[in-house]
Amino acid sequence: MRRLFLGVALSLLLFAGIGNAQRVNLLCSPDLAWCEALGPAFKAATGIDLEFIRLGSSEALARLRAEAANPVFDVWFGGTGDPHLAAFNEGLTEFYKPSSWDDLLPSLTKSVGETYIPLYTGALGFVINEGILAEHGVATPQCWADMTNPALKNLIAMPDPNASGTAYTAIATLVQIMGEDAAFEYLAALHQNVQQYTRSGAAPGQLAGRGDVAIAIQFMHDGVKFAEEGFPLTVVAPCEGTGFEIGGLSLVKGAPERDAAIKFIEWALTPEAQMIAATVGSYQVQSNSKTPVPAAAPDLDTIKLIDYDFAKYGDPAERDRLVSKWTNEIFPQPR
Ligand code: G6P
Repeated sequence: MRRLFLGVALSLLLFAGIGNAQRVNLLCSPDLAWCEALGPAFKAATGIDLEFIRLGSSEALARLRAEAANPVFDVWFGGTGDPHLAAFNEGLTEFYKPSSWDDLLPSLTKSVGETYIPLYTGALGFVINEGILAEHGVATPQCWADMTNPALKNLIAMPDPNASGTAYTAIATLVQIMGEDAAFEYLAALHQNVQQYTRSGAAPGQLAGRGDVAIAIQFMHDGVKFAEEGFPLTVVAPCEGTGFEIGGLSLVKGAPERDAAIKFIEWALTPEAQMIAATVGSYQVQSNSKTPVPAAAPDLDTIKLIDYDFAKYGDPAERDRLVSKWTNEIFPQPR
């Protein structure tokens, strides 16, 4: 009897212990190496465990939509801002104002308002293997307009907007630069030169680095990472101007571990946590003004950035409309 009592008491204690153990379940959308580095550093700083799944921004949004009635994730870390805004507008995430809010770059907090927390920023561009271009006798493109040159047939890779936030940023950027009709004519012409649409936003640069294509359309900081890894790549900012992301950090509505999620968000915005990105080759400009900008980060002050309308292009209806239009009208065209 006594043994039984002790056994039951021990089980209850163990159970209570397990119940108290905090663990953050993270949906992580930037580069895998950055996602992997977060857990050990967060555990060392707070004692809280962290698990993550890496999904591209658009796939992450789809996952949150599918789990809305029964959320599995606590925090969504990184990925382009448009789907974070869409998730907020759809009630999939809630705005949490971190204690570091006033330290975040005002240009970023002003653009997104109190919807999601800006985590980083970076500009879109071309990541180019000049050796492959030289083999085809084509000059290095400097402008969006150069990318539809028929001499570039099969030499371009870009991500697929159905999976990747980078790709959606590119489409929304072109619509803002050219107007919607001209942008879709442009995307049709560009499609003739695209050899591969990838699931992840960073993957095109790897194809260019290995010489499978000559040009990747992606965030310029991803190109810097691959160049540092030894791939023969250079990075170009398009002459007409280019779009940029305000990468997001969001608290999932109904997060199973809300307290731990908030501790993670507070930690993730500290300069110490944000500096982890550059140690694993993620060269975005981090949102906390106290986080040093890595020397390798593309200098956003020297790049012609468009006045990106985050409210309009993060609207779920507008986002879904543009992605469906591309999927139905551009992607099926023979090439
Ligand atoms: C890369 C970039 C990030 C960006 C992310 C979006 O990891 O470095 O700055 O937010 O791509 O990923 P996705 O696969 O959704 O395009």
